[in-house]
Amino acid sequence: MKQIIEVKVKTRTADWAACKTDMLVVGRFSDGGPDEVLQVLDRKLGGRIERLTKLGDFTGKPKTYALIYGEGRIAAERVLLVGLGERKKATLDTIRRAAGTAAYRAVEMKVKRIALALHRPFDGRFEAAALGRAMVEGAYLGSYRYDEFISENNNGRPGVLDVEIVDPEAARIKDLTPGVAAGRIVGQAQSHARTLANRPANVITPSVLAKAAQDLARGLKTVSCTVFDEKKLQASGMGGILAVGAGSQNRPQLIVLKYTPARKPAKGLPTVALVGKAITFDSGGISIKPSQDMDQMKFDKTGGIAVLATMRALAELRLPINVLGLIPAAENLPSGSSFRPGDIITTYSGKTVEILNTDAEGRMILCDAITYAAEKKCDVIVDIATLTGACMVALGTYKAGLMSNDDDLARVLEEAARDSGESVWRLPLGDEYADEMKSKIADLKNTGSRWGGASTAAAFLQQFVGGAKWAHLDIAGMDVFLKPTEYGCVGGTGFGVRLLTTYLMNLVEEKHG
Ligand code: BES
Ligand code: MN
Ligand code: ZN
Repeated sequence: MKQIIEVKVKTRTADWAACKTDMLVVGRFSDGGPDEVLQVLDRKLGGRIERLTKLGDFTGKPKTYALIYGEGRIAAERVLLVGLGERKKATLDTIRRAAGTAAYRAVEMKVKRIALALHRPFDGRFEAAALGRAMVEGAYLGSYRYDEFISENNNGRPGVLDVEIVDPEAARIKDLTPGVAAGRIVGQAQSHARTLANRPANVITPSVLAKAAQDLARGLKTVSCTVFDEKKLQASGMGGILAVGAGSQNRPQLIVLKYTPARKPAKGLPTVALVGKAITFDSGGISIKPSQDMDQMKFDKTGGIAVLATMRALAELRLPINVLGLIPAAENLPSGSSFRPGDIITTYSGKTVEILNTDAEGRMILCDAITYAAEKKCDVIVDIATLTGACMVALGTYKAGLMSNDDDLARVLEEAARDSGESVWRLPLGDEYADEMKSKIADLKNTGSRWGGASTAAAFLQQFVGGAKWAHLDIAGMDVFLKPTEYGCVGGTGFGVRLLTTYLMNLVEEKHG
């Protein structure tokens, strides 16, 4: 795939003042004195950094930054000071966001080469590898732009951003390095996810997405890809996926990616299924949505894309764990062949579902894929989906909803969320919600009452998990940036790639029992 901006990351041992670069990036907390890096540079710069602080022009608050020119006093052309906020509030996402701010500024300024010296103030609070990884992820996120369909691209933005992680001590660089390698893999996977997400529904159809998955598998020895086309879906009885896809010329698909690591997984590690909703466009179908902002429904495929990109990352990371990636893909359109309100659909599980609203389509494709995962004896099933507007109403655009039938699984996902900066918040499940999904004329219906829509949707999915430990991530609201942020341009966020990859990395590292 065309790289929108190619990021090249290296490490480098160099003294702060002797580091030749277009822009040296240094962090500062809003409280407490300057750290060693700043002191060294300030001395060389004749007190220019302290002057900025004294004048109140740079406070170190989050999202602030200031630019100083080297003027030949140091090897760097520029120093970018980035605010880290309060010291005690610092998390791994603080350094990730700081690196994001720097990379975002670099692209805006058409600067080609930056050097990150952000890690020292975090000394002792996080492992060096985690800091390295977060810095590199931030560099990928912040530099991300989406302009592949702009025909006259004369904006002069660099095609390549060179990012160096610098420190004067070789031993420190050595400690950061494994994290840098992981950050590169995760960053590239997340950018890949963003580009696929940003491509519109006339470009990414279910079969085009299937081809992207097949291309990915072709390039990775440990990943195989099988695609269920419409014929095979029919032969298998995947009535949910078929019903949702019935209204579109772009026929539905079930994409099955299987990762078998070269290294044998440790005893006791579960086989994990990742299931992602890929509605390439959600018009609502016969229960059609209002036209306002309907264009945003090209992002209804982002759960599936997060799964695809996570499969890529975990194969490149060579994680020793068995993972099945399932991506049910369909386009939800109204037409003479669409499924309708009132229809009763027989799903892959054999359970029948009365359709009350064709806009509650995500659960209809997910239930078939979840049944498939349960049938393949996966121990853990994690699904990820832009499932309900109700979740977005509840949590806004800052946290994804997390529902689970297993408290330990919920806890490890919450930990992965903290490590990755992709936040989640637990929402309830229970018999009350499940009861709302019972139909009088079928086993289930596809909508509940007006209230608690995120939990009734999850309770519907829960009916299909069998004995597996299962968690559901409702990422409605997390799939798209409506404004530019330190994590790059408006559009697809790639949400879920870091969260799911981190979850799997933590499992392998036996941080969890
Ligand atoms: N894809 C939507 C959910 C969505 C809404 C995602 C807004 C991102 C932003 C989903 O398919 C949907 O339409 N859900 C309905 C369910 C309802 C009909 C029970 C909803 O939330 O309104
Ligand atoms: Mn819908
Ligand atoms: Zn949808």
